[in-house]
Amino acid sequence: MKLLVTAGPTREPIDPVRYLTNRSSGKMGYAIADAAAHAGHCVLLISGPTTLDVPAGVDFILVETASEMFSAVAAHLPRMDAAVFAAAVADYTPATPAAQKIKKSGDPLSLELIKTKDILGSARGELGFTGFLVGFAAETENVESNARLKLAAKGCDLIVANDVSRSDIGFDAHENEALLVFADRTEPFPKAPKHDLAIRIVSMLGE
Ligand code: CTP
Repeated sequence: MKLLVTAGPTREPIDPVRYLTNRSSGKMGYAIADAAAHAGHCVLLISGPTTLDVPAGVDFILVETASEMFSAVAAHLPRMDAAVFAAAVADYTPATPAAQKIKKSGDPLSLELIKTKDILGSARGELGFTGFLVGFAAETENVESNARLKLAAKGCDLIVANDVSRSDIGFDAHENEALLVFADRTEPFPKAPKHDLAIRIVSMLGE
C-alpha cells in the first residue's frame, strides 16, 4: 500500500535566528517509515528537522514549519492508502516573525502566538482523506480518555497514545509504551524499543 508518515518536530520562526520547537526526536515516525518500507509498502516520509538518517527505500520531504508540513501533506495525501501522523507539530506559531534579529532591551518581551492548522484534524474534512488514518496522542494525564476524544474528534481509525510525563518512554527516548486506542477496543503495548511498536503499527494498517 501507499503510506504517508509525518515525523519530527516543527520549527516556528521568531526572527531570522530564533525559533520555537519541541523535544520530538523523530525516532518513532522514522521507525514506522522504516518498518513499512521493509514490509514492502511504498512510503513517503514528511519530516521536520531531525538528526536521523532517512530510512532506505523511503521517499522524503524535509519541511520546517507547521505550515510547510500542512502543504506537503495536502499535496500528497489524496493518493495514499494509509497515513500515520507521528509528527509533533507546533500548535502555535509567532503571529509576525520579525524580519530582522530582535534586539534586547530593558523591557519584558511578549510574543504573540496564533494557532497553526491541525494537519491530522484536517485529513478527513478539508483534505477528503478516506484511507486508514493513524494519529498519536501525547498526554500527561487521563491518557486513554483523552486519546479516545482525539480518535473521535479527528476521525482516526487508531490513536497511539503515549504518557509524555515519563522520561523513560516517548519524547526523545529509544523505547515507547503505548495504548493502541481503536473505536471498539484498547490494546496496551508494553514498553519496548520504538522499532517493535513501529512493526506493530504497520501490521495494523488497514485492519
Ligand atoms: N497534529 C497535527 N497537526 C497539528 C497538531 C497535531 O497533525 N497542528 C497531530 C499529531 O501529529 C498527532 C495528533 O495530531 O498525531 C495529536 O497531537 P497532540 O499534540 O497529542 O494533540 P493536539 O491535537 O495538538 O491537542 P493537545 O495538544 O491540546 O492535546
